[in-house]
Amino acid sequence: MTTPALDLVDVTAGYGDNPIVRDFSARLEAGTITTLIGGNGAGKSTLLRAIYGTNRFFSGKIVFKDEAIERLPPWQRLQRGIGFVPQGRCNFPAMSVAENVKMGCYTLPAARHAAAIDRVIALFPMLRTKWRTEAGNLSGGEQQILEMAMVLLLEPSLLLLDEPSLGLSPKMQADVFTTVQAIARTGVTVLVVEQNVRGALLISDRALVMEQGQKFMEGPAADVRADPRIRQAYLGGNIQQTAA
Ligand SMILES: Nc1ncnc2c1ncn2[C@@H]1O[C@H](COP(=O)(O)OP(=O)(O)OP(=O)(O)O)[C@@H](O)[C@H]1O
Ligand SMILES: [Mg+2]
Repeated sequence: MTTPALDLVDVTAGYGDNPIVRDFSARLEAGTITTLIGGNGAGKSTLLRAIYGTNRFFSGKIVFKDEAIERLPPWQRLQRGIGFVPQGRCNFPAMSVAENVKMGCYTLPAARHAAAIDRVIALFPMLRTKWRTEAGNLSGGEQQILEMAMVLLLEPSLLLLDEPSLGLSPKMQADVFTTVQAIARTGVTVLVVEQNVRGALLISDRALVMEQGQKFMEGPAADVRADPRIRQAYLGGNIQQTAA
């Protein structure tokens, strides 16, 4: 196997004095999509925050491109190529799509703005058609795509997506999944948390299953999809049930 894009080794992370994710290990190969599955409160968002560096890291290692990054602040992880789209809306709703995209360029040198904007517009033509629209007036799916675009302006090689299809209609969920596949085809490694387990497994190469902060299962997405325990817990009609 090649060097993994991301190597999590016994990661324990949480908030204050509470470790939530415990001894979590996983490897992500470059250019692949991995979905992280687990019930509400399992610790999925906590693991993504630990990779990005916005919560308390207790122990373990996070190796990104051959470098241990677990003690770096988030902005240095961003600089090294980790992009994070958190759970929930995270655009500037009263500003136009154009202004949001320009905000996304904030940390780039000015000379690179135009090329970065052209690149994300080529990937997501919707941005051009809605360029003057206030972000808050876009559909939920369009806002999600805008938020991914704002992070992709910085050309991350690893993209962390927390519940990109939450609250969207089935049609928009499909659009978001197609978009995630398009992003991975450009060579970006994707780690996506999804409540639509069925849809996420269909677009993913691999799956990680978390229960109560610990790794419960991992493997090729097709194998995880076929596992009777996963079918019962996540694919049996009530896909949002809790881990309890
Ligand atoms: N900022 C925080 N401070 C303290 N505890 C938190 C914080 N955020 C989350 N937690 C706790 O960490 C645990 C895991 O939460 P987390 O958000 O990681 O779960 P999740 O798997 O993403 O759930 P969901 O599917 O509902 O988004 C929960 O018990 C939650 O109460
Ligand atoms: Mg979450």
